[in-house]
Amino acid sequence: MRRKRVGVLISGRGSNLAALIAAARAPSYAAEIALVISDHPDARGLVLAGEAGIAAQVIESKTHPESLRFDRAIDETLKAHAIELVACAGFMRIMTEGFVEAWRDRMINIHPSLLPAYKGLHTHERALADEARRHGCTVHLVRSDVDTGPIIAQARVPVLKTDTPETLAARVLDAEHKIYPTALALLASGTFRVEGEKIVPVSPGMSLPIVVPALKD
Ligand code: GRF
Repeated sequence: MRRKRVGVLISGRGSNLAALIAAARAPSYAAEIALVISDHPDARGLVLAGEAGIAAQVIESKTHPESLRFDRAIDETLKAHAIELVACAGFMRIMTEGFVEAWRDRMINIHPSLLPAYKGLHTHERALADEARRHGCTVHLVRSDVDTGPIIAQARVPVLKTDTPETLAARVLDAEHKIYPTALALLASGTFRVEGEKIVPVSPGMSLPIVVPALKD
């Protein structure tokens, strides 16, 4: 099996990057984390990339103020490293339509909510304000409308009465670290195709999207 070369886009902490790097240490994992790009020079994820011996590059909006040029710089860097798949992991930029289309069905994102609920920011605060009983995270193919796109995997977590945004975020993040490597492996190993904006498993016995239940229904 030839492992697919993956570029990870980050802006900060990089805990999902760390989960992907850890998963990719298994020889049987279908993807290799070959490049990390950050739009912030002080992102902790860059340190993690360095420790893991992964090529890392900073592309800042300071040096590329126009979105088109910024995205072109990212695209050129990905191509220079022969990247085949892109995983956004806490990448806090809205990408241009041209860039998103160029990587259509080859770029995934992780979002801290059960999409389509709570697109955008402050998902944990909003779930608590709504007194939601469950919350979670989603891995999806990236489309130019933010936080939309065919869903590959979701994990549900309970919302406790005692939760603060921080305790809920920690529970969701733990689930993120489990489903992101799983979803990337599904993409990298070609287990599905996209039909009518839905994920369809290539082998009939498989059920997709993967939904990890943490609550009894
Ligand atoms: C995660 O909660 C992810 O879902 C969201 O941004 C956060 C990034 O965290 N898109 P980390 O940088 O991976 O630790």
